[in-house]
Amino acid sequence: MEVQGTFPPLSLSAKFEGSFAYLTVRDRLPTILTKVVDSLHRNKENFFKEYGKEGIQAEKRAISFLSKLRNELQTDKPVLLLTDNAEDTEAWNEYMGRQQELMEDGQPVSWFKSPWLYVECYMYRRIQEALYMNPPMDNFDGFKEGKTQSFFESQQAIKCLCTYLQELITNMENMTEMQLRENFLKLLQVSLWGNKCDLSISAGQDNSQRSSPIDSLPDLQRFILVDDSNMVWSTLVAAQGSGSAGKKHARVDIVLDNAGFELVTDLVLADFLVSAGLAKQIRFHGKSIPWFVSDVTKQDFEWTIMQTTAANHKWMSASGVQWKHFIKDGTWSYHDHPFWTMPHEFCDMALDAADLYSTLQGSDLILFKGDLNYRKLTGDRKWEHTVLFDRALRGFQPAPLCSLRTLKADVQVGLQPGQAEKLNSQDPHWMTNAKYAVVQFSSPHRER
Ligand code: F6P
Ligand code: MG
Repeated sequence: MEVQGTFPPLSLSAKFEGSFAYLTVRDRLPTILTKVVDSLHRNKENFFKEYGKEGIQAEKRAISFLSKLRNELQTDKPVLLLTDNAEDTEAWNEYMGRQQELMEDGQPVSWFKSPWLYVECYMYRRIQEALYMNPPMDNFDGFKEGKTQSFFESQQAIKCLCTYLQELITNMENMTEMQLRENFLKLLQVSLWGNKCDLSISAGQDNSQRSSPIDSLPDLQRFILVDDSNMVWSTLVAAQGSGSAGKKHARVDIVLDNAGFELVTDLVLADFLVSAGLAKQIRFHGKSIPWFVSDVTKQDFEWTIMQTTAANHKWMSASGVQWKHFIKDGTWSYHDHPFWTMPHEFCDMALDAADLYSTLQGSDLILFKGDLNYRKLTGDRKWEHTVLFDRALRGFQPAPLCSLRTLKADVQVGLQPGQAEKLNSQDPHWMTNAKYAVVQFSSPHRER
């Protein structure tokens, strides 16, 4: 809860014993580290084949680095400065200085005492440090196998979705604006619920989509706690006339979350936006290093399009071929600014990543996928549930934006009075079990 008079409210942290942050740091993060160690072990033979003895030595050193890291975490040791010399090392170390200033009585920044958002991001960056420090392992993605598996286990749902998309495209010319709107709203919801399928919340356990994503929508509607989809639609429509002489040129940015089924839902939505003439350009934003188990990297993005193209299913491969064209002719592009794998709240972006902020300002609509992006949008703080989304953004308003998120962390704003109390009595885990979702919109041009 937002403590009266404290603005911004306190950060979520494992220092609040029994909280979801506490349980994550205590139980889930060590499990994730163990899985990365297992994955390195499993790939021993491959390292040997590729790099010979040097590969085996590097694998051993990386494993011992990660085991030490797990021990530091479990015994609440002070967090350490990064020692690799990567593009973002200095920024990480500088940010740790800021965290130090926030500590009471000069206590050191540590796993169970500092903000959850910071320490969780820091863990993924330390995994990367283990690889950077042990070449030739620096390109290894310890989460790759899980992401690949999640894509293959969702094949049925992916085929359904691609078939649905290709039918829509065939009938697109005869569609009224009303029908276009209806179909847009459906695919927006498919992309929303695609966010159920991440592998971080399940600590790497299978979490794929098996049923038809379109058929499930009506049953899921009542679990959407805030639904601003109409404003998203109006924003897209308004962007149509904004070019010179009413020429359509709308640009949509999608800040991606997870690979596997969720990424396919995002690609399908992006295809629909372009094919329906609602967007001329789509910019996808992904991660430059493996992140939160299942987040999309450039390699995942390219691999997914390649697999879709190569599928032994007419409509799935037709979709993949189309997506390849979009990339080739520049209609779609992939970007991975280092800020997306920093621990900052997004309200820091204008100062700490001014180039990214100004790029986003050129967008007509930014879609932020998933829970971690929501945590960063709202700063991962103890907000009252009825605080307005705009207020929780604390000035982060590069362009009209919308968060598409299933709830997996105990931060939620923008609810109606009484709504959270009702949910608490019906389902005590409503904020963390990914059963509920929000489509939450904010615009710099919106009347408050
Ligand atoms: O605690 C669950 C968690 O690890 C959160 O830290 C994070 O917000 C979420 O999983 C990842 O979810 P998503 O993939 O939707 O960002
Ligand atoms: Mg994720």
